[in-house]
Amino acid sequence: MKINVKAPAKINLSLDALYKRKDNYHELEMVMTTIDLADRLQLVLLEKDIIKLDVKAHFIPDDKRNLVYQAAALLKERFSVKQGVAITLDKSIPVAAGLAGGSSDAAAALKGLNQLWDLKLTLEELADLGAELGSDIPFCLYGGTALATGRGEIIEPLPMMPNCWIVLAKPSISVSTPGVYRDLRVGEVEHPNTAGMVQAIRDGSFEGICDNIGNVLETVTLAKHPEVKRIKEKMLEFGADTALMSGSGPTVFALVKQYSRAKRVYNGLRGFCEEVYLVRPWQEEK
Ligand code: C5P
Repeated sequence: MKINVKAPAKINLSLDALYKRKDNYHELEMVMTTIDLADRLQLVLLEKDIIKLDVKAHFIPDDKRNLVYQAAALLKERFSVKQGVAITLDKSIPVAAGLAGGSSDAAAALKGLNQLWDLKLTLEELADLGAELGSDIPFCLYGGTALATGRGEIIEPLPMMPNCWIVLAKPSISVSTPGVYRDLRVGEVEHPNTAGMVQAIRDGSFEGICDNIGNVLETVTLAKHPEVKRIKEKMLEFGADTALMSGSGPTVFALVKQYSRAKRVYNGLRGFCEEVYLVRPWQEEK
């Protein structure tokens, strides 16, 4: 038996951190949406009790350090699964980019293995298991557009965001998510209007989304890496309707209503940045 699963990237339309909690995580309010830039996983059932992971990309671990491996190991241990799996992971999403690539891979693995090993877990049960491995994994299991609160693991699905073009540009620098959260001063930053963003999504208002877009983590990453700020400015100069850093960065995305302008932003950015993508919002058919 063989299963193919798509693992789409996400962008943050808004990301707010309200305060630092006693468990050292931040209490968050995020509106996220999945986009048509995806990794692909193939899962093959093995009768032997092993987990085999083959990653088709350089510099990505194919052992216990990989969230996909951890997802398989967690299900095996929790449900005493005696069968095994051979997983091939084809990467297209840039790594450590603020696009939840690793979390989406783990979510796809949980979904696929639920089927492959016939575990009959509900989406909510998978999301609870996913939250043990990473804060963004529950959202990745739901996909589409959603409000994520708590540590990021409490998901309220929203209508799909209005169709538009999304230009992504990832500068070739790495940022550490724990480092960005550590340097964030929640009391000193301007907070995005999450309720306004949720309303804009419910209204299907592209203009409302542009008016309420915001990410508190920009205060840390843009100050430390001026090239990220420059990319954002270039996107706006080339005609983007709005531009924002996703997650803890360093990827910046532009939302553009008109295709001709999106192409201009895309072509313009290619002069500054090696990794540039032109995509659309994406939601799995339910
Ligand atoms: O949950 P995950 O392992 O993906 O989180 C990575 C890091 O991001 C955490 O160790 C923490 O430093 C930071 N984080 C946070 N508050 C959250 C989610 C993540 O401070 N709600």
